[in-house]
Amino acid sequence: MEPIISINSLCKSYKNGFIALDDVSLTINKGEIFALLGPNGAGKTTLISIITGISIPSSGEVNVKNFDVIKHPLVSKGMIGLVPQEVSIEPFETIISSVNFSRGLFGKPKDVKHIKSILKQLSLWDKRNSKIIELSGGMKRRVLIAKALSHEPEILFLDEPTAGVDVELRKDMWKIIKSLKNNGVTIILTTHYIEEAEYLADRVGFINKGKILLVEDKEILINKFGKKTLSINIDKKIISIPKTLIKYKLEIVNSGYTLIYNYNINNNKTGITSLLNDLSSENIQLKDIITNQSSLEDIFVDMVS
Ligand SMILES: Nc1ncnc2c1ncn2[C@@H]1O[C@H](COP(=O)(O)OP(=O)(O)OP(=O)(O)O)[C@@H](O)[C@H]1O
Ligand SMILES: [Mg+2]
Repeated sequence: MEPIISINSLCKSYKNGFIALDDVSLTINKGEIFALLGPNGAGKTTLISIITGISIPSSGEVNVKNFDVIKHPLVSKGMIGLVPQEVSIEPFETIISSVNFSRGLFGKPKDVKHIKSILKQLSLWDKRNSKIIELSGGMKRRVLIAKALSHEPEILFLDEPTAGVDVELRKDMWKIIKSLKNNGVTIILTTHYIEEAEYLADRVGFINKGKILLVEDKEILINKFGKKTLSINIDKKIISIPKTLIKYKLEIVNSGYTLIYNYNINNNKTGITSLLNDLSSENIQLKDIITNQSSLEDIFVDMVS
């Protein structure tokens, strides 16, 4: 894996003394989709603002392809596209002129073919002559992506790309993000929709109160921390757990008609076979058994709390 962004011991404290980032170190690999997850105020936007050269760190350094973002801001900014959290676009511009303008800001010559291909990919081509004010919220978000891609960046930051977007459009956005990755763009996104990270990300990072809590490959994370639960529906109501079953730490739910058993999928012995045998010895008849695997969301909530 080739690193494309290296963040070393980054700290950011604001004028009022508030520490928004506390010794953050992180490497982003070329071609990956990295999802940064954290509650409101965790420091996600602050981190993105520093990498993209909008904000200056108090200490530490960020290199984009070995170019220090403070010493070589123009070079690093040229490699980066940013879709900001807040939607703010000149309302009376047309889509096409707004996107062309963004490209011009990076000193790149007009490229009708490139802009057309981005707008087509984002299903905005037919609307290219519409004014921004005439667009829906979801379309405006797509215009922001088009603007961010106008100068052909290798790295794209998406700060909550699907906040306030309906389910269908969110799925469209996911497709767009995956196809950008397939075209070789490295993507860093923040989101409050954990299912979005679960679907899109190759790696995830958890941040809370300005500190990175964990960075891990998504699949490894789900396997490593993944707990499974077995819901056992029984035919007769149970009020208390028989002595022989206490060791399984079962939970009684559903007014006594369901027993919940938690187990770790990484243990050699899950204990399921012996539990089922012991239930049978206690003459507890099973009606149904359902397994559930903990999601990235459960893992995240566990970590942050
Ligand atoms: N200019 C500023 N001055 C003082 N504090 C600030 C400033 N900008 C941000 N903060 C604080 O820094 C913390 C991190 O903010 P940031 O916007 O990075 O959070 P976030 O993780 O992006 O949250 P959200 O999920 O709500 O977008 C917050 O507590 C915020 O109030
Ligand atoms: Mg934010």
